[in-house]
Amino acid sequence: MPDIFSHLSYGFIGAGSLCQALLQGFLQKTRLPKERIFLSSRNLSRLNKVSERFSVRAVSGNEELVAGSQLVFLCIKPEDLVSVVEPLSNQFNQHHTLISFLAGVPLSVLKKLLPQVNRLVRVVPNTAASVGEGIFAYSLNQSDSGLESFIEELFSPLGPVLKMREENLSAFTVAASSGLAFVLEFMQYWNEWLENHQFSPQLARQISTQTFLGASLLAKEFPKKSLSQLQLQVASKRGMTAEGLKSLNENQMDSILHYAFEKCALREKALRKE
Ligand SMILES: NC(=O)c1ccc[n+]([C@@H]2O[C@H](COP(=O)([O-])OP(=O)(O)OC[C@H]3O[C@@H](n4cnc5c(N)ncnc54)[C@H](OP(=O)(O)O)[C@@H]3O)[C@@H](O)[C@H]2O)c1
Repeated sequence: MPDIFSHLSYGFIGAGSLCQALLQGFLQKTRLPKERIFLSSRNLSRLNKVSERFSVRAVSGNEELVAGSQLVFLCIKPEDLVSVVEPLSNQFNQHHTLISFLAGVPLSVLKKLLPQVNRLVRVVPNTAASVGEGIFAYSLNQSDSGLESFIEELFSPLGPVLKMREENLSAFTVAASSGLAFVLEFMQYWNEWLENHQFSPQLARQISTQTFLGASLLAKEFPKKSLSQLQLQVASKRGMTAEGLKSLNENQMDSILHYAFEKCALREKALRKE
């Protein structure tokens, strides 16, 4: 990571799940200076707990945080956007860079709230960033190659960073942010199956985790093979795996998943309108 990162100051507003995943990833995988990371949040006891856990500096309010940070990471819920950002509009100036993680909140809305800020970035994360295996997509409010390189260098230790058109962020959010939880939902079924067959919860977890990891690594290491080709390496014709796959198809797992993804996308649209 270039040295420029050690001279900047970083402010996180909202000490919830995402903020903690990012802090964990940054502090484990980069040399971002702890003493230049500031944190503010609504709930004081959570703020103190999180700042102690990561040894970063808790500040008494969002105003103080914005005044002391060059990069502001907005980690609040979309419904809190206006109530949090409006009172801060005088604190922000053209030297700030605002990185918003708010699902479904377009850059145009951020620009309306903070017209003086030129460096506005919308980032869609996934929480595997905490272990350096996340994936990020981002869009900028205006073309700025310096800012693009900066964002890519900042986040890349936590996972691949993809620049994309803002209209593509919604589909990415469903697949990569919510998608992580969908995959964990599947893993729960793997655990349940094994536990119902007398495996201890620890062993069940180890087996299911390694199976998902193995499948992901196979897909990653052999990019020229289609996923169905990789499936064929396991599923010989008329064998037991083929029988299970046939049942998944007959029971229309693809429609179930399609429906779930669409529902998720519709919810994001509704939240955007709200
Ligand atoms: N988690 C994910 O995987 C994920 C993925 C993609 C995008 N995102 C986006 O990331 C954002 C944060 O999500 P999250 O899961 O981290 O939510 P979260 O756990 O609810 O965290 C939000 C935090 O914001 C704090 N907050 C609320 N009002 C505030 C205020 N006025 N000043 C300072 N802090 C305030 C909340 O404080 P309290 O503790 O008092 O409630 C809470 O700690 C959301 O916009 C979400 O769309 C999250």
